[in-house]
Amino acid sequence: MTIRARQMETARCRMAWLESGAGWPVLLLHGFPLRADMWRPQLDHAPQGWRFIAPDLRGFGATRARPLPRDGGSEATMAEYAADIGDFMDHLELDDAIVAGLSMGGYIAFEMYRQAPARFNGLVLADTRPQADTPAGREGRAAMRALLAREGPSAIAGQMLPKLLSQRTRTGDEPLVARVRRMIDEADPAGLDAAIAAMMTRPDSTADLPHIACATLVVVGEDDEITPVADAQAMQAVIPRSALAIVPGAGHLSNLERPDWFNKALGDFLLARM
Ligand code: MLT
Repeated sequence: MTIRARQMETARCRMAWLESGAGWPVLLLHGFPLRADMWRPQLDHAPQGWRFIAPDLRGFGATRARPLPRDGGSEATMAEYAADIGDFMDHLELDDAIVAGLSMGGYIAFEMYRQAPARFNGLVLADTRPQADTPAGREGRAAMRALLAREGPSAIAGQMLPKLLSQRTRTGDEPLVARVRRMIDEADPAGLDAAIAAMMTRPDSTADLPHIACATLVVVGEDDEITPVADAQAMQAVIPRSALAIVPGAGHLSNLERPDWFNKALGDFLLARM
């Protein structure tokens, strides 16, 4: 399937994105520390009648924020990423869409839902969680920022790869391990740093879950160490119109590790929305 690379200037960003297919829009929000490319196995198989749109978030891939009227520092907030996507939808003249976020993409989807629930035709929460960082989690983020400043994105790749991918993937799919590593190695350090700051200060979305009114699919890799199955089950249990799909043998990057399973769960969810 043809995947088109696009760019546009908005007041907030120079937005870059990949898209495929035609029809009802599905926004695919990537995780940290990756970029829109992580959605290629889905973009390659957009079901008939659906338009898949995968933006690079600000500071990732080819998307760059415009200077914002804030003092110094590269720090961003989840609200800013969410506002970027809302603005992007305006520019694409999309009143609403199905919004799918993996991990940090899910954190942004929670924020978007708080800002504009009417824009959701459906929600896919993949390998993500509603809770804010714990104090220990924040300390880990601070250490990661220091490591990034000292040694650059490759050090982040070294630290994160064992947690992003299941053991099955790490030992059995060398090309995928290399692809994920390359995405991280090529990331812009300032974009990574801003995202770590945004994740460590993100609000808790747990109280919002019972108020999510749109149909929701929760997906999680069976061996996800960052956002484990038990967390996904607990999240799904309190979202009213929701279903859960567990992707066998996958870790945190379930869409890349088992695209066949992930695409089937997503395709079934979309089919029910037509
Ligand atoms: C992600 O995949 O986006 C990150 O692992 C999320 C996180 O570190 O909380």
